[in-house]
Amino acid sequence: MDDTRESSRLKSKVDPDTFIKKYISPLINPNINNILDVGCGSGIITSTIAKTFKNISITGIDLSKQRFNDERSKHSDYKNLNFIQGSAENMPFHSNHFDIVFIRFLLEYSKSPLRIIKEMYRVTKPNGFIILQDLDAQLATHYPENKSLQNRLDIILKHLSKSGFDPYIGRKLFHFGKKASLSSIDLQLEPYHLFAGKIDPHNESLWDLKLDIALPEIVKALGSKDKATQFKNDYMNYLKDESTLTFSNLFTLTGKKTTSC
Ligand SMILES: C[S@@+](CC[C@H](N)C(=O)[O-])C[C@H]1O[C@@H](n2cnc3c(N)ncnc32)[C@H](O)[C@@H]1O
Repeated sequence: MDDTRESSRLKSKVDPDTFIKKYISPLINPNINNILDVGCGSGIITSTIAKTFKNISITGIDLSKQRFNDERSKHSDYKNLNFIQGSAENMPFHSNHFDIVFIRFLLEYSKSPLRIIKEMYRVTKPNGFIILQDLDAQLATHYPENKSLQNRLDIILKHLSKSGFDPYIGRKLFHFGKKASLSSIDLQLEPYHLFAGKIDPHNESLWDLKLDIALPEIVKALGSKDKATQFKNDYMNYLKDESTLTFSNLFTLTGKKTTSC
């Protein structure tokens, strides 16, 4: 989805301080020198880590430099912040280089999640930490079921799966972590996007924008612009309905690399 609105949408979706407090800060100790944010997107988490931990060097890597340009130019005075355009499958870093390597909401879009996790393992130092965070059952759990909406969602998800989108990636992280030789695994599961009754205005505008940005793909899946727009309206109306429930889950895996490679 290369839409110029995607960077600001990603930025408004995340509270970087909460992410850092919950998942990064507990791993920080005087031996941590550098951190890597894989698929950093807007770079808002990356730059907030640089601001929070001034003695730690942080690098963000993303396929699209358009995504992080704004944060990069806003914080060009941060000496410990670095953004690189590159692929998560084949990162331009030496092996055994970073103390903490994390990835948030990229694996759901990847055709090769295990390859990316193994690449993260490669660039992590022995005794370093790897964090994998992603969603499970995104766009899949609603009650009461609206058959017409669900049928169209199934068609859209099937279409998106051709480019690698996996709405059930969250539940696979533990298995992939094991396959990539991570040890001391800690796994957390939290609700995410829990909309009981009418969606709140902030999330309503984010979902509206998300569906708008995805519209070209929805057109391809459903066959026409009219059908895609109708789907978008129906989905937004479902989220705005006082009597409906929508939710997905957030899995966060933290593991260690114990061997050198
Ligand atoms: C949903 S965004 C998540 C961004 C950020 N991690 C966050 O939590 O807000 C996914 C990001 O992964 C990037 N991306 C997708 N495939 C990639 C790949 N193979 N290598 C590097 N970045 C990739 C996209 O450009 C996008 O910015």
